[in-house]
Amino acid sequence: MSDVAWQGIEDALTDATGPVGSAHGLPPVCYTDPAFFRHEAARVFHRSWVGVGRADRWKAAGDYAALDIAGVPTIVLRDKDGTLRAFANACRHRGTLLLDGEGACRAIKCPFHGWLYGLDGRLAGAPRMDETPGFDTADYGLVPFRTDTLDGFAFVCLDDAAPGLDEWLADFAGLHAEWSLADLVATRRREFDVACNWKTFLEVFNEYYHVPYVHAATIDDCYERPDPLDEAAGQFVTQFGTTADTATLLDGNRDQALPPIASLQGRNRQGIRYTWMFPNMTFAASAEAIWLYDTFPLAPDRTRVGMTVCFPPETVALADFEARAEAYYHRLDTVLAEDLPMLERQQAGLTSPFARPGRFSTYMEPSVAAFARWYAARVA
Ligand code: FES
Repeated sequence: MSDVAWQGIEDALTDATGPVGSAHGLPPVCYTDPAFFRHEAARVFHRSWVGVGRADRWKAAGDYAALDIAGVPTIVLRDKDGTLRAFANACRHRGTLLLDGEGACRAIKCPFHGWLYGLDGRLAGAPRMDETPGFDTADYGLVPFRTDTLDGFAFVCLDDAAPGLDEWLADFAGLHAEWSLADLVATRRREFDVACNWKTFLEVFNEYYHVPYVHAATIDDCYERPDPLDEAAGQFVTQFGTTADTATLLDGNRDQALPPIASLQGRNRQGIRYTWMFPNMTFAASAEAIWLYDTFPLAPDRTRVGMTVCFPPETVALADFEARAEAYYHRLDTVLAEDLPMLERQQAGLTSPFARPGRFSTYMEPSVAAFARWYAARVA
């Protein structure tokens, strides 16, 4: 913490670690300070299983995405064996970025001097290195990172010492079994930047408190008082709440509802489970669909967001799926557009030197408190 020029932050982080009824929120410096941002990257993003979206984002061999994992340029790709792999996006010759954006490739060729890497990361060719004494291509493959998937979600971990993903998420699969998450198919993904800290973006998605104020005209009529948080082991938090009608559609479109996920039973057909996989990926599991956000910090006040919507394969196979899915996309985009201006206002307020940590509504924002507890322990 020596690089964090903010007096009293240790005490403020301790105040964030209590139960929801007595804890304070995270100190504003966690959302605004450039030095703390670098500290956070090292303590949180570089030591965790970072969510990178759904695994079907990389469908075929050679499909790749270049990501920035809190300052670490990273390539995620599917190799010839169908394995999802991740590598440092830095050429082993003189460090050049190898890939940008997303696309498909048969191999990875450095644009600077032509070193060529296979999809398994091995250096397959290095022109004009034949007279360099002792040079062996076997010694200069791309630096690999750990990858894993769970229930169709894909993760990358930069830390070889972190526990495995199954241990990291512990009770996750059992709590979400009825949604048959592994079977769901991504039908739309889009990416965009938002002008707020990555944590505030995830916090608003996981609390019910703002709904009557920010979403009064769109979805507030549906949401009922949520259940308490589920007791669960693992680096995630999850809260279920019933809804009066499908909250995944706007009023006026709800007669267009697609069929529920076939494996859902009872109350799970009449509500939404909001889950935050720490640190950076969250999703809502409704009766008909799930939608998720993966978030990547670009600056204290700027975040890259990926938004993905998934349906069961039998729903996607319906003849009128595309048309009916549009109503779902419209609902999700409309509600997101209501949140973003409020997040920008929050970010502006958090930058004040007089901003102070607040308190939580015990039943409307317990997930935010749980994340604060988890986060404070890691950055302290
Ligand atoms: Fe990549 Fe030279 S930096 S080949």
